[in-house]
Amino acid sequence: MKHRNPQNKYQTADFYARKAKKEEFAARSVYKLDEIQQKYRLIKKGDKVLDLGCAPGSWLQYAAQQAGNKGRVLGIDLKEVAISLPANVRVVCGDVLDLADQKENMARTIGSGYQVVLSDMAPSTTGHKETDSARSYQLCVAALAIAAASLAEGGAFICKIFQGGDFEDFVRSVRSAFDRIKIIKPQSCRKESKEIYIIGTGKKREGL
Ligand SMILES: C[S@@+](CC[C@H](N)C(=O)[O-])C[C@H]1O[C@@H](n2cnc3c(N)ncnc32)[C@H](O)[C@@H]1O
Repeated sequence: MKHRNPQNKYQTADFYARKAKKEEFAARSVYKLDEIQQKYRLIKKGDKVLDLGCAPGSWLQYAAQQAGNKGRVLGIDLKEVAISLPANVRVVCGDVLDLADQKENMARTIGSGYQVVLSDMAPSTTGHKETDSARSYQLCVAALAIAAASLAEGGAFICKIFQGGDFEDFVRSVRSAFDRIKIIKPQSCRKESKEIYIIGTGKKREGL
């Protein structure tokens, strides 16, 4: 996918939404994952990928392409995914916060041995910055617990967080479970948005 740089935030919103429609992706969010993938090549052919907060489905579509026919993608979301998906993708409707709390249910629903765990989860926003970032942090903590339990050693974690008071704590937690971390705000994020992506690579055998 080639990126042409749009000029301002209004064009940005339109540009990526129109591009997603033209390229038949379910949402403009796909270009955030695309930018991360172009830069770090974390999803490889044959990989098992877990996508937390997967609806409406653009990351599922993209991860399935990158992992190829021999790869497998499992998505989880509170909402149903309405688009038709490739054969190597499976979706479960559920609450990631519950799964992170229930170890047996987590193991049964998700399994293990993933090479990449993605979380683009976002809470329903209230407009109150502290509340929204605290809820985002809670989702990130759950995503990290699931990543720690389900990733193979050496695996990678990509997680969206709304920057707020707990941001540094979360960075520290990711650092304790992975050999390296990166923090990236993809070009296609709306400039006014507080969202940012933390990437952990080289999942440690022990950690958290
Ligand atoms: C920004 S959307 C994800 C977009 C997706 N990456 C895509 O490209 O289509 C955030 C998603 O997180 C989901 N979400 C929020 N809280 C959740 C939870 N506790 N468990 C599961 N999914 C959750 C929402 O339902 C929403 O679909």
